[in-house]
Amino acid sequence: MNYLDNAATTLVKPRAVGEAVHRALTGAAGYARGGYAAAQRAGDLVYDCREQAAALFGLYDPSRVVFTQNATHALNIAIHALARPGMKTAVSGFEHNAVMRPLALHGIDPAVLHTPLWQPERMVQEVRRALGEGTELFILNHVSNVFGAVCPLDEIGRLLSAAGVPLILDASQSAGVLELDVSRLPCLAAVCMPGHKALYGPMGTGLLLALDDRLASLMAGGTGSLSESMNQPDFLPDAQESGTPNVPGIAGLAAGIRFVRSVGAANIAAHERKLVRELARALEANERLEVFSHPSQTGVLSVRVKGVPAEQAAAQLADAGIAVRAGLHCAPLAHRTAGTEETGTVRLSFSFYSTPGQAEQAAEAFKLVKKL
Ligand code: ALA
Repeated sequence: MNYLDNAATTLVKPRAVGEAVHRALTGAAGYARGGYAAAQRAGDLVYDCREQAAALFGLYDPSRVVFTQNATHALNIAIHALARPGMKTAVSGFEHNAVMRPLALHGIDPAVLHTPLWQPERMVQEVRRALGEGTELFILNHVSNVFGAVCPLDEIGRLLSAAGVPLILDASQSAGVLELDVSRLPCLAAVCMPGHKALYGPMGTGLLLALDDRLASLMAGGTGSLSESMNQPDFLPDAQESGTPNVPGIAGLAAGIRFVRSVGAANIAAHERKLVRELARALEANERLEVFSHPSQTGVLSVRVKGVPAEQAAAQLADAGIAVRAGLHCAPLAHRTAGTEETGTVRLSFSFYSTPGQAEQAAEAFKLVKKL
């Protein structure tokens, strides 16, 4: 199989990830609930992952690294804690349903900033305008899961930090690919990310970088600490982590983050960008295709085949052994912004393990896609 759906989940992982999962599965137990060796091992594995994540993202205090099931879970915690009904909230035009649905659940109809594709300077202007209008909370997608378009985080972060307005960052597609140093952006209240994409961890793992002290928990329960109290502990990470965590997954995630740190996010991004440029060039030579490409995009590329529904095109690519994702990618807002809401797109996405041969094979396969 030619797997080009890494924006959904990276399928090829560093070997150390599977080994770490196996070791934890067979050697760790009773996390934070016992003084025996297996419980100690579980505690060490989990703490190691907190330290790895803290080091990757410039976090001074590893206890602010909270484990979640995925980015959606982390976003729900952040939105639940920081968004209040009627609060003036602004989002980019590229948000995922993992942001839009929790906002709706909390009675918030956010202002959608006018952020056309490939116009980062426009996004900065829009943030400035929204600040002028009294926006109290921003939620921004760092990299679009549909188009690989990058939000100008440094500039926006400076504006929000100066204004003292909090930002929830959806780093689902950027964590492990774009360098992120949270210590440089005081406006960051929460950074939410999955473990299973570009951090190369197992599915069912995610991280919340809990930077704002107001991040109250979605859940309460056993933490192995302060058991005599009927109130949830108010210190991190216990405040946010009830019940036994996914220790094998977290051990695998630590190995994935170690891999990212050893290769370097900048090198990973450079590799993926090279492949995406090569693929875009090859696809642009095919007049039947509309290719959403730009030199700034990360390793995520959307394509439309004229006259062929996206799902039909993806099914034909699957028959040719190429795994891609088609449709709206759980991000109808991003498609509305790009004018692809009616049709959706076919999305191809790379990882550090992707090769030029995979891109070439995909470009060839598109030549055979036809209307059925
Ligand atoms: N949000 C993930 C994707 O873009 C699952 O495919």
